[in-house]
Amino acid sequence: MTSIDLGRHPRGNGFLLPEEVENEFFFHLTVGMCDACTMVQLQSEVPQEIRYHDAYPYHASGSAVHRRHFEQNARHFLDTELTGPDPFIVEIGSNDGVMLATIAQAGVRHLGVEPSKEVAEMSMAKGVRVLSEFFDESTAGKILFEHGPADVVFGANCIAHIAHLASVFRGVETLLAPNGVFVFEEPYLGSVVGQVAFDMIYDEHSFYFAVRSVQAMAARFDLELVNVEPLALHGGTMRYTIARPSMRTPTPAVGEWLAKEKESRLGEKKTLERFGVSVERIRDDLNALLRKIHAEGGRVVGYGAPAKAATVTNYCGIGPDLVPFVCDSTPSKQGRLVAGSHIPVRSPEEFRADYPEYALLFAWNHAEEIMANEKEFRERGGRWILYVPDVHIV
Ligand code: TYD
Repeated sequence: MTSIDLGRHPRGNGFLLPEEVENEFFFHLTVGMCDACTMVQLQSEVPQEIRYHDAYPYHASGSAVHRRHFEQNARHFLDTELTGPDPFIVEIGSNDGVMLATIAQAGVRHLGVEPSKEVAEMSMAKGVRVLSEFFDESTAGKILFEHGPADVVFGANCIAHIAHLASVFRGVETLLAPNGVFVFEEPYLGSVVGQVAFDMIYDEHSFYFAVRSVQAMAARFDLELVNVEPLALHGGTMRYTIARPSMRTPTPAVGEWLAKEKESRLGEKKTLERFGVSVERIRDDLNALLRKIHAEGGRVVGYGAPAKAATVTNYCGIGPDLVPFVCDSTPSKQGRLVAGSHIPVRSPEEFRADYPEYALLFAWNHAEEIMANEKEFRERGGRWILYVPDVHIV
């Protein structure tokens, strides 16, 4: 097992109130690659009840680009997989209903499985039917009993979050109709490694999938990987389609991506070790840049408070002394502190009210949308600091 050690970390989405600082939860953040199947995964597990509590702050509808993407996803399913008599779709981790709302509007049978109450309630307000539980083999059995087999089981930015992945696959195998498909979209290991996006590593990301490791995982549960499609979301996502064996003909993309992974040596020890060296370089460069700006009297505000910000600030030793606040459009994050580094989260209006010299873009996966919205910052001389694939100013 080859490992990368990022040290002591809090929960990525563990935004906390100042009075909660004393009892903050920390764990040791390391990822390892299995020498046999090349799956990359966290080596320590934070219990899922601690991660996906009732006030889970991530809202999938928080980005216009994501809203459009999930609406298109829903329309695609309605036009392709959900055209038979009384079709049924299940979404694992349906969050605030960003995808299922379109399915519900079309009057198609659906069920979201979402353990975090607040986001589940947001989706119910959109007319989405939700089971507020964790998805596993036993939940799948219950759904099958009550609703019958699913034509589509979908998950976005969720399947790789589930430490009990084997139980999820057994559940899908139970629930899927004979010609059904299991479709999921997750950040792609090739993009994480290629962009040195080490901030994608935090407690919620239990697995870092690649085509080869997903194919091996599917085969272990008597399922077959039949298609892969790269997407631009979250800095590089792969969409996997899995079916029962011999029910669908695998597309050429599967073989092509397997060949690409082999050529780029994605599943090799040395690649992960090189990634580890680049991560240390980014930490040192970013810390040095922020200290230099600070020493010269410049101000840096963080832009976006994704879970990623906890990894970067804690790993790189960035606190409120170097970045006095981060702004984020999510109301439930505002007024709280970034986990571990305790940088306050404020609204984007505070950023606009008094532009700093620099904005450190933690939500770099939304760079296009954010930079377009914040055109004025740059027009007034402000500069963006980015740290993937290396530290640079634009
Ligand atoms: P995201 O990268 O989607 O999530 P994570 O790393 O936690 O999985 O989070 C992006 C954050 O950026 C989210 O908290 C919302 C915020 N944001 C803004 O503040 N303004 C914006 O224009 C956009 C698109 C996002």
